[in-house]
Amino acid sequence: MFRGEGTEAFHPAGYISDAAELRDLAAFFFWGGWVCGATRPGQDYSYTHNWPYDELAGNRPSAPIMMWSVAAALGLIAVLGVVLFLYGRYSSLASWRQAGDETRLATLTRIEAFGPTPLQRATYKFFAAAALLFVLQIVAGVLTIHDFLRFTRFMGIDLAEALPITIVRAWHLQLALMWISACWVGASVFVLSAAQRETPQGLLGELNLLFGLFVVWVAGSLVGIALGSKGLLGEYWNLLGNQGWEFVEMGKLWQGILFLVFALWLRIVARMVRTVWGEGDAWTLPKWLLYAVACVLLLFISGFVARPETNFVIADFWRWAVIHMWVEAFFEVFTTALLAYFMVLMGFVSHTAASRIVYLATLLFLGSGPARHLA
Ligand code: HEM
Repeated sequence: MFRGEGTEAFHPAGYISDAAELRDLAAFFFWGGWVCGATRPGQDYSYTHNWPYDELAGNRPSAPIMMWSVAAALGLIAVLGVVLFLYGRYSSLASWRQAGDETRLATLTRIEAFGPTPLQRATYKFFAAAALLFVLQIVAGVLTIHDFLRFTRFMGIDLAEALPITIVRAWHLQLALMWISACWVGASVFVLSAAQRETPQGLLGELNLLFGLFVVWVAGSLVGIALGSKGLLGEYWNLLGNQGWEFVEMGKLWQGILFLVFALWLRIVARMVRTVWGEGDAWTLPKWLLYAVACVLLLFISGFVARPETNFVIADFWRWAVIHMWVEAFFEVFTTALLAYFMVLMGFVSHTAASRIVYLATLLFLGSGPARHLA
């Protein structure tokens, strides 16, 4: 695969040439196939419970897999029923706009009269950065798909020589995380400023510091992924280059800087929420944003378990925990709270209705996504 030239061969040819590395890679592929296909001693199913099942190796989904799949599907339907019941029960609260609602619609006159605060203006650069990173992500995706099709030669130059798929695919995934993070930091600070009577002291400086850290994280990760994948970082490949974990490709140092970015984001959000802490119950929209940001930071910690010497099963379990607890749990909670906040600011729904919907949606997210993985 790495030595040949045929259609099955990796492109560009000779990408990995070291005999020991090729042996290690072949051993990993063998182990991956073996752990899914070989039956456990004394059992009639494999180490991965016949997943993904391989009829050629004689294994099919086992009885417990069928039983738990059906039970989980029924459980999901039951929980959906409960959520819909609660939604119906509180539908009067969660109505579009209630009679006597004091929220004012964001009409053209109101929008034209709006003047952003200095803190809100400071968030603009996050959105500009996000737009740029989004374009780069699409370019990386387009380069990746061209590699699949073996269509990488333009005007006599083979782009895959300079930018092999290992680099462009890793960029494609990390860039998504980067522009989404930029939008979230910018949007959360922007909406929270609407609830502030006065900006807490030094917050503007902290936000600009956060942007500086963000730029270092983005630049370091993207350059590191390229250099590390090309083997140019020597023994520092894991610290500065490409760790090789899908979605957490960035080197450990850049991962540490992302942790600082999230920690500073949490501090900024917490300082803004503190000014309105005494208002309302524990489930107002600013508090929802704070809880979600705190959980995003907390769950990111499990991404640090994976080190080159960590057992693959342990490392991959915890790496996957970051992805799933983020995308199937707190990313959704955060996005729902943020969108609800925008809807309130635009005068489309009342605050009570919005926070009630966030509550119900959170029940659904945390009850379905993570529960699926715990089962
Ligand atoms: C023109 C636009 C895009 C193109 C051509 C493109 C292309 C690709 C390609 C070729 C892959 C690799 C698939 C594989 O390895 O099997 C991929 C994976 C992926 N892309 Fe895109 N992409 C585009 C836009 C996006 C956007 C906007 C996002 C997210 C905001 C995104 C998120 C992802 C993710 C998460 C994966 C990994 C999927 C997995 O491993 O299961 N892509 N994309």
